[in-house]
Amino acid sequence: MAEQRLRIAIQKSGRLSEGSIELLKSCGLTISRGKDKLYGRVQEMPIDVLLLRDDDIPEFVSDDACDIGIVGQNVFEEERLAVTREAPAREVRTLGFARCKLMLAAPKDWSFDGAGMLAGKRIATSYPGLTKAWLESHGVSACVVTMKGSVEVAPRLKIADAVCDIVSTGATLDANGLKPVATVFESQALLIRNAKGFSAAKQAIFDALMKRINGVLTSRDAKYVMMNAPRSAIAAITEFLPGAEAPTILDLAGNPDKVAIHMVCRESVFWDTLEELKKLGASAILVLPIEKMMA
Ligand code: PRP
Ligand code: ZN
Repeated sequence: MAEQRLRIAIQKSGRLSEGSIELLKSCGLTISRGKDKLYGRVQEMPIDVLLLRDDDIPEFVSDDACDIGIVGQNVFEEERLAVTREAPAREVRTLGFARCKLMLAAPKDWSFDGAGMLAGKRIATSYPGLTKAWLESHGVSACVVTMKGSVEVAPRLKIADAVCDIVSTGATLDANGLKPVATVFESQALLIRNAKGFSAAKQAIFDALMKRINGVLTSRDAKYVMMNAPRSAIAAITEFLPGAEAPTILDLAGNPDKVAIHMVCRESVFWDTLEELKKLGASAILVLPIEKMMA
């Protein structure tokens, strides 16, 4: 029997591509791409990578064309609202990158004072499902015009009064004389999987990959923090450090009142954090990145 390989769909080029490839790299996977650049093969695990348009990923993963995929929550939710499938792809977990917002935006000279202003207006969007759901939940009836791209030019062309589009830096809206007025949906990268269940062999590859992905994501912000401190300050320091687990306390040679405290801290450690630790009595504070972590 031919070797079973897990097929993962990622975005070919766009908001999610870099983060998706980087995540696989952090999992210790190198992708050698084929000549057409639409297909890649992972060397270290039996995994194939398909490079697709983000909008096509939910469908590929719902069909058996791909087993798993990385897609924006915006695209996944829109597809879920707009298309009825027999066995839609299922969410596995959010991935913490490619954050953006789907926002209603209007010409800069509008003095926007609430959803009611959109009543009877024409709103251009590539996300009619999410836009209509938001309007409905705000009790507003408006005319939603679906456009595949270049939504931001619709008001200038008088095709629409307002738009509902993806915003990350806000530069596109700004360049087109628009301002964001309300957030419809907050999005980040999402790992999805085929809902029909895998063969035992594929499930094993999937489980191994998930262990690595979970490990990478938990260690991403995690730091190993070391410091010296008065024995009496242990409780206050442990309580103060965000997301820290049971610390290791070590005696300091020749100094019975002081200890070394070592701990894994699961959230970002900022300069403010260090200054606060000093106030609590800590000295010689070291913050080290954690490369890998597995529970
Ligand atoms: C969105 C949106 C804008 C841009 C906004 O497109 O339609 O063009 O991003 O980004 P900014 O706020 O940083 O200027 P997207 O990348 O989702 O393109 P796609 O529809 O082709 O996937
Ligand atoms: Zn797209």
